[in-house]
Amino acid sequence: ERIDARGLHVLPGAIDVHVHFREPGFAHKETWTSATQAAAVGGVTTVFDMPNTRPPTASPAAVAEKDALAAKQAIVDYGIYGLIGEDNGDELKAMLDAGASAFKLYMGSENPLAPCPSDGAIVDAFETLAGLGIRCTVHAENTPILKRRGERLRRSGRVDAAAHLEQHADIATVEAVSRSAIFAEWTGCKIHIAHESSRHSLPHIRFAKSRGVDITVETCPHYLFLSTDDSSRLGANFLRVKPPVREPGHAGPLWDALIDGTIDILSTDHAPHLPDEKRRPVIWDCAPGFPGVETSMRLMLTEVNRGRMTLCQYVRMACRAPADAFGLAHKGRLEVGVDADIVLVDLRAEGRIEGALLHSLGNATPYEGFATIGMPVRTMVRGRTVALDGRPVGQPGWGRRVGAPSASA
Ligand code: DOR
Ligand code: ZN
Ligand code: ZN
Repeated sequence: ERIDARGLHVLPGAIDVHVHFREPGFAHKETWTSATQAAAVGGVTTVFDMPNTRPPTASPAAVAEKDALAAKQAIVDYGIYGLIGEDNGDELKAMLDAGASAFKLYMGSENPLAPCPSDGAIVDAFETLAGLGIRCTVHAENTPILKRRGERLRRSGRVDAAAHLEQHADIATVEAVSRSAIFAEWTGCKIHIAHESSRHSLPHIRFAKSRGVDITVETCPHYLFLSTDDSSRLGANFLRVKPPVREPGHAGPLWDALIDGTIDILSTDHAPHLPDEKRRPVIWDCAPGFPGVETSMRLMLTEVNRGRMTLCQYVRMACRAPADAFGLAHKGRLEVGVDADIVLVDLRAEGRIEGALLHSLGNATPYEGFATIGMPVRTMVRGRTVALDGRPVGQPGWGRRVGAPSASA
């Protein structure tokens, strides 16, 4: 294959360590085929899939079931998260042997598919993972505390109860971030904080890092490009995501932290739902999250063009840092001996984001109409082109599972 790359930039493929690809259980929202096509077009060559599927990825058999579905369909490489539950602490090693690449803890969230384990079970799991050398990704959001506080405020009859709660909503995140960092320091477990949404977490993250805790942190485009100010444009229901986008004033410090490396990684929390699941009239019925895997690189390259960061800084947060955090030394960089996971980008290509053109089944995007400058034009996974000029061309089944770093060592 002869490739004309004149006028293009060559980057390592992006590694997105936080996606919800929905199978098994929710193939109406997304399939491994549609999702990995979206990833490929978006310049993403490796993804790590979250365990809140049906069944939840909480046992060796569930890991194997998901792997079988992914192996048949994927056109990019993938890792599988195992779920930390209340009662599966003895199975973590067996889940690794079945193919899990890392683990996910829902700390305090009220996801029915992924209930929060007790603090005791969390510490036990961290201790086990420390022994195995495996990183645990944490959804750090103490939703029960927030709900209880909300109830109390409402009962108190404060006229500004809603506004007051909104102002303090991010404490639910900050508390869980710092608690998980303390548990990580105590046990020696490596952790990764998912979807950081609040500037108030940053001092706690810096503190944990200064104490030598092996803690990595990610944020996602919606916390950088959106705020509660967008709810009038998009509707608060449509904008619903967990954790929520914050008031204006958080994005700036999150950008700064991402660029200075306090926040290590850019992921997406790609969480597609069908358009009508996103547009329900009652906010609590409205499904949280939106697709992101196909639009992230375009949004970020636009910021490179605007001078907010350099291309090298983008590559660090989107490729190299995730590879290093999750033990993928053979990916995420352009060096002799690594996988030929490559994306060619046209930094001058101008366009607009259009949900209808996205490959995700749940393609309603909060970035509808955003003007972008810079686009991935060819994506290669292990030397083979899987997307070209906005079209997926990869063979389903070409995607391979990436193992856990120490599982084979
Ligand atoms: O917004 C979200 N959507 N946050 C989560 O933690 C789960 C995700 C989903 O699965 O839809
Ligand atoms: Zn989450
Ligand atoms: Zn998520």
